[in-house]
Amino acid sequence: MLNVALPKGRLGMKVYDMLAAIGYECPEILEDNRKLIFENTENGVRYFLVKPSDVAIYVEKGAADIGVVGKDILLEQEPDLYELLDLGFGKCRMCVAAPDDYREDPDRPVKVATKFVHIARHYYESKNREIEIIKLSGSIEIAPLVGLSDVIVDIVETGTTLKENNLRVWEEIVPISARLIANKASSKFKAEEIYKIASKLKEGRS
Ligand code: PRP
Repeated sequence: MLNVALPKGRLGMKVYDMLAAIGYECPEILEDNRKLIFENTENGVRYFLVKPSDVAIYVEKGAADIGVVGKDILLEQEPDLYELLDLGFGKCRMCVAAPDDYREDPDRPVKVATKFVHIARHYYESKNREIEIIKLSGSIEIAPLVGLSDVIVDIVETGTTLKENNLRVWEEIVPISARLIANKASSKFKAEEIYKIASKLKEGRS
């Protein structure tokens, strides 16, 4: 049985379609229900639909053999697993953003609101810039608008959220896209199957 962790939502369904096309169908997953585990014993596949930020944990711990996750999660969590392939979709950018009229005060630490604490620390350390982190769980864009932070470190996809909140990209940290990941032990014991999947997905990459 091949266990696959997919992020719940549009990205996960896109990956499911790609896997179904190469022999890992499990049609029940397309039904509108609240189930989270789907199994097809005939072709030996089991899908878990998990929160996007939890995919890497399932794969690292071996509950899933493979999974699909955003590079942002890999950079933030640094899980112990193999990153097999850049799938070329789910593209966005990790950025520092700030209000249109922001001016940095070099005499004090930058107040940074983010979900991505590790990425933010790492980025500012590389610039030798002191920061104060304010960890939030979502709607990060509000923080600089209400004086909670100077800037944010967050994902920018279309830029609409920034624009509609009078923020702009200040610095780009790293481009992000979806990655195929594999558990280290599974990569040995199910090597043939996993690498076949990786090469098939590579062919169908956008
Ligand atoms: C992400 C990100 C931005 C938004 C960017 O939020 O945190 O808020 O998408 O997309 P855009 O550039 O296309 O506007 P998400 O929807 O993941 O929710 P969140 O508030 O929980 O971070």
